[in-house]
Amino acid sequence: MGGRDELEPIEQASRDALAALQLQRLQKSVHAAYQGIPHYKKKFAAAGVHPGDLKSLSDIAKLPFTTKEDLRQNYPFGMFAVPMADIVRVHASSGTTGRPTVVGYTQNDIAAWAQLMARSIRAAGGRSTDKIHNAYGYGLFTGGLGAHYGGEYLGATVIPVSGGFTERQVQLIVDFRPDIIMVTPSYMLAIADEFERQGFVAAKDCSLRIGIFGAEPWTDSMRDEIERRMGLQALDHYGLSELIGPGVAQECPDSRGGLTLWEDHFYPEIIDPQTGRVLPDGEPGELVLTSLTKEAMPVVRYRTRDLTRLLPPARRPMRRIERIKGRSDDMLIIRGVNLFPSQIEAVLGRETALAPHYVLEVRRPHALDELDVLVEMRPELSGKLGADDIDGLALRAQHLIKSYVGLTATVRVLEPGTIERSQGKAKRVLDRRPKA
Ligand code: DLL
Repeated sequence: MGGRDELEPIEQASRDALAALQLQRLQKSVHAAYQGIPHYKKKFAAAGVHPGDLKSLSDIAKLPFTTKEDLRQNYPFGMFAVPMADIVRVHASSGTTGRPTVVGYTQNDIAAWAQLMARSIRAAGGRSTDKIHNAYGYGLFTGGLGAHYGGEYLGATVIPVSGGFTERQVQLIVDFRPDIIMVTPSYMLAIADEFERQGFVAAKDCSLRIGIFGAEPWTDSMRDEIERRMGLQALDHYGLSELIGPGVAQECPDSRGGLTLWEDHFYPEIIDPQTGRVLPDGEPGELVLTSLTKEAMPVVRYRTRDLTRLLPPARRPMRRIERIKGRSDDMLIIRGVNLFPSQIEAVLGRETALAPHYVLEVRRPHALDELDVLVEMRPELSGKLGADDIDGLALRAQHLIKSYVGLTATVRVLEPGTIERSQGKAKRVLDRRPKA
């Protein structure tokens, strides 16, 4: 039997060989989308383009974008390019408003997904001999099953825990001694809290070597915190349902700071989110992805809304993306200042008395927006700080936010455990402003 621990040939190919494969796959995939999905035929006709116009990779810029709205309009199965009989699985992402986004997979799609997820785990340092504690949610969310199939394909032992039941998560980590954990970074912190609450010590009781964290934005200060408390190497993993789920880009231990994007399956572009113009590599903007191998639901130039930039390849021919800074639709505008929740997270990480559990509350009591930052103190400080200490701490945090982000905020320092813990993606913003 054995596992799949070796690099795939494409991971060692030249950049030219990769580009040739991309063009061939792009042409085939765009044709399939055009032929199989009436929505694409209509959009291409309206834009005056045809799949035959794709002579080189840069011709992709001629094609129209696809947005979440396109998927919503074709709810539930209108974006499938193959008959329903060939679909073996669907997933859906709930989204904040209205209809969920539904995605479908053929047998080949499921196999390619497993292979990409296995490649990601291997790139993170995982091997077929490892045990993987999978705490991504199982169900309509792509995280649980996506990671699960990848772990099995690699030949590792998958422990399908799913999200929730935090006490049991800790028990399984201590008893089963897994090597790898896959979970959202915010839920990892909740597990770390519970681990310590039960009196366990990372150095002795935590067997975890690698954490593969994604599905939500996080920061380097959160990475430091997780690594320090759990004694593992914390690596970033990116993906989205519309393209496949997890398995789009993986940060490797030897090139931290950028996630290798599996360009043989997804073609990346960075655009100016305002004008839609394609930007050169290295410039920050919105990530646009085109699937190159998906059969059930090929997507052409999908606007992810995720903000990042393209970095040069590291050890593989594929380019990398920088850690996602936030989503263009998560950006808050407070009294004219653009703010991503992760900016506040990064600033709070500078104050050692504060824990990385926070939520932003935006209100408009009168004419102007007000920002309250609710953040917990570190558990070891509970009961040890007087009212003056807590006020002083809040003032210091306010000062940091003012100087780094340029915003006047009210910081409220809370007791440990007061902020609701996520068991998947954390909700960081409570926008209580009246709707326009
Ligand atoms: O979150 C897929 C996934 C599962 C990725 C497990 C990683 C691990 P969706 O629910 O469709 O799919 O949400 C996709 O989540 O467009 C980003 O805004 C955000 N996101 C995903 N990974 C990261 C990351 C899954 N590493 C949306 N950093 C994406 C920042 C991320 N944001």
